[in-house]
Amino acid sequence: MVKVVRTIAEVRDFVREARARGPVGLVPTMGYFHEGHRALMRKAREMCPTVTVSIFVNPLQFGPQEDLAAYPRDFERDLATAAEEGVDAVFTPSVEEMYPAPQAAFVDIAELTGVLCGRSRPGHFRGVATVVAKLFNIVGPDYALFGQKDAQQLAVIRRMVRDLNFPVEIVAVPTVREADGLAASSRNVYLTPEEREEATILFRALHWGKQTITGGERDPQRVARLMAETINGMPGARLDYAEVLSWPDLNPLATIEGEVLLAVAAWFGRARLIDNMVVEAGN
Ligand code: PAJ
Repeated sequence: MVKVVRTIAEVRDFVREARARGPVGLVPTMGYFHEGHRALMRKAREMCPTVTVSIFVNPLQFGPQEDLAAYPRDFERDLATAAEEGVDAVFTPSVEEMYPAPQAAFVDIAELTGVLCGRSRPGHFRGVATVVAKLFNIVGPDYALFGQKDAQQLAVIRRMVRDLNFPVEIVAVPTVREADGLAASSRNVYLTPEEREEATILFRALHWGKQTITGGERDPQRVARLMAETINGMPGARLDYAEVLSWPDLNPLATIEGEVLLAVAAWFGRARLIDNMVVEAGN
């Protein structure tokens, strides 16, 4: 049985008792679970005797023109999924519980957020870092699990934890993909069957980018252009970005060496999808 917890006071009580049994894991989510979320829960289950999952569609990380109101939700199905994955408690606070008054304190990460999704979605990572900081302070987990699918988010949270000394260990989980390479995402539900097919171009563009690097290409601009052209070649796709940056610092590169991040984002109808790959290029 999954315990459903809606208030901050209750989740604190729950974790205080649970900690006697060993480390507590937290999987922060916005719900509408898919295989990616399940992989995070499973990893937490392996590592921690107590697994908590938060479900909170965080208004602070959505821009005024973004899909906050339309964001898909299905609490009953999520609860059943959490039960299948052996989750102990689901923390699902209301917006009023999390933001009883207009928020005045924010976590701004001065590095890492001026590129990729940070450039396309101003204020997004401030909203993410602020809500994750609140969740860490509310739940107090020993481990918190994040998906590599949102690579920039992972880098931002790691930096926040390091710079602000949060007593939590961040665990990264590899991207879960459909059979044809499309990364699992709650937003895939927005896709028409045709767009669903077109969206596989993101994975193919990354894959080709990776292959050219493996084949010896060391010019980041050329790889970025190849990925952009690949995505632009798909009639239904509207490119947001295709970039090659250092990983995990997200700095521009003069030449490809060491670990690099290949990151892409594009619109398919009303769905904005992202994907990435970390490639080890050697020296
Ligand atoms: P959400 O999009 O629900 O994602 C929750 C977690 O699942 C994130 O860590 C994300 O990286 C991971 N995830 C999503 N798709 C994945 C996939 N295909 N493979 C592996 N992991 C995947 O990310 C958020 O929510 C929010 O920004 C949040 C961190 C909860 C703050 O509000």
